[in-house]
Amino acid sequence: MKTLQDIKHVLVLGSGTLGLRVALACALNDYNVTVYDIKEKAFEQALRIQNELIGQLVKSERISKEIAEQALKNQIFTTNAQEAATHADLVSESVTEDLELKKKVWAEFGELCPKHTIFTTNTSYLIPSLFAQETGRPNLFCALHFHDVFYANVVDIMPNPQTEDWIIPLLKEFGQSIQQTPVIIRRESPGYIFNAMLMALIGAAGALVTFDVSSIEDVDRSWMGNFKMHMGPFGILDEIGLDTAWHVTSNLKDEKSKRFSKLLKHHVDQGKLGKKVGEGFYSYPNPRFQEEGFING
Ligand SMILES: NC(=O)c1ccc[n+]([C@@H]2O[C@H](COP(=O)([O-])OP(=O)(O)OC[C@H]3O[C@@H](n4cnc5c(N)ncnc54)[C@H](O)[C@@H]3O)[C@@H](O)[C@H]2O)c1
Repeated sequence: MKTLQDIKHVLVLGSGTLGLRVALACALNDYNVTVYDIKEKAFEQALRIQNELIGQLVKSERISKEIAEQALKNQIFTTNAQEAATHADLVSESVTEDLELKKKVWAEFGELCPKHTIFTTNTSYLIPSLFAQETGRPNLFCALHFHDVFYANVVDIMPNPQTEDWIIPLLKEFGQSIQQTPVIIRRESPGYIFNAMLMALIGAAGALVTFDVSSIEDVDRSWMGNFKMHMGPFGILDEIGLDTAWHVTSNLKDEKSKRFSKLLKHHVDQGKLGKKVGEGFYSYPNPRFQEEGFING
């Protein structure tokens, strides 16, 4: 396989926050999409959120109702790994940010997928070569890391040392075909481009709170007031998912990160996973930071 025309069927592994968005973007752009997850229940939540996203896209006239209806028909959801793998031309993996889990999932799909299938991972902070061997084809494996897909539509393309050269321009074209702006990371580097910068911001925000320098709301207020942005670092964390953020910080060993990880774990243990469940640092659908007057304290 060498050209974009050869990619017709996309398999998305993991039907959570990112998987459901990548799947929908592909389905909206005429790819046949299979979404695989181990939890049947994840599909209910995915469809609910996809319908909300579709509603927003139709309302803002970014897509027509007909395209939205067709997109939903372009997707199949399954917990059957063999069935999911059969027709895959490209796999986009979005399972939980956990190295051992990713190794396990890639070992399984490395066996099940056809020999020509291109493998991509959406990992946020893990270095892909940590699990490239498990895929059984590190030469066809590359990080293709999305942000929120519909509003922050940059996609990071980061090869591992064994990725064949032709994969990069092909993934660039694939990214463009689903309305993303591709950026190339020449060598493996934690956090790609944007996440490397974002992590520095979020780490600093976490330290301000865990060292009791300021409150969550004032940290967000400061960022929003200075940059005229509609959310601050803790609002961003709620969007990302506090469980996903915790998986990232739990691997870091410095004192600031350990304290921040403890704060995130405290919320995760209470089921406060962020916007996706209606409760994180803020409550949804109407978080405090979106209220009129929030910025004035
Ligand atoms: N949340 C974000 O903003 C964001 C942005 C970019 C990239 N990512 C990355 O995307 C990946 C997924 O993150 P998320 O936020 O969507 O997580 P999530 O927790 O919302 O979803 C993860 C999904 O993986 C499923 N899963 C777990 N084990 C599985 C298995 N063995 N096989 C198939 N599915 C399995 C879970 O059931 C769940 O539905 C992570 O690597 C994360 O770093 C997340």
